[in-house]
Amino acid sequence: MQHISSTLGVPDTSYVPQHVAIIMDGNGRWATQRHLPRIAGHNRGLDAVRAVVEASAARGVQFLTLFAFSSENWRRPADEVSFLMRLFMTALRREVVKMHANNIRLRVVGDLSRFSPRIQQLIADAEARTARNTGLTVTIAANYGGRWDLLQAMRKMLARQPMLDPETIDESVLAPHLAMAYAPEPDLFIRTGGEQRISNFLLWQLAYSELYFTDTYWPDFDAAELDKAFASYRQRERRFGRTSAQLVAPGLSGTA
Ligand code: IPE
Ligand code: IPE
Ligand code: MG
Repeated sequence: MQHISSTLGVPDTSYVPQHVAIIMDGNGRWATQRHLPRIAGHNRGLDAVRAVVEASAARGVQFLTLFAFSSENWRRPADEVSFLMRLFMTALRREVVKMHANNIRLRVVGDLSRFSPRIQQLIADAEARTARNTGLTVTIAANYGGRWDLLQAMRKMLARQPMLDPETIDESVLAPHLAMAYAPEPDLFIRTGGEQRISNFLLWQLAYSELYFTDTYWPDFDAAELDKAFASYRQRERRFGRTSAQLVAPGLSGTA
């Protein structure tokens, strides 16, 4: 299914964001503040994932995308990276059973070739198992980078049509090759942990997303925090390039 591009048309918007994308940041600082090792923060971060998945499903969100590990996170100390890999495996084993029981579809996007064969197998199994579920789609971005995504999309596009005339390349030629082509663009982007940056997350897809930043560290983020973000979202006027006046008199507006 092709979703409307926010730069080519005006997407439907509703009260509850259809697609929420989150940079789950602040696990390390949450732990350090408590004189705990950083990994304790990652453990608690997984509890927050559970809470936010549940709350998103209950509120009628259709797509929830969570940045779990960036293409730059390999630069961290080896013991932290290997802990995160183990945690990812645990989550894939345990959480997927619950997700499946709750009709949740799981997808993982990113350059998966860098993960161990075991993790790759767990990902494939989890995706296959939940593929026919019709509730919330949870996407985990793992070894994901926005630039990687654009580059892999360009490679796929050219591999399919090596003689492609550059003049004919438009959004609709490239976008289907992006890792998240199955989802509409995020309506709401949330970053916890106080930093106000994109950190190479969904570069193409965030073109018209509403941005929400909170100082709350990810392990403290819960249903009530999600509701705060949604309340902020509801205050926004999503104009997609148009004027405010066009929004109150939609008959006068162009659709593109
Ligand atoms: C986010 O928390 C989790 C990952 C990036 C894997 P951090 O580990 O970045 O926590 P801070 O930013 O150091 O507090
Ligand atoms: C972004 O967090 C990536 C994830 C949450 C997975 P980081 O903590 O790695 O981001 P930077 O490096 O501080 O921008
Ligand atoms: Mg961080």
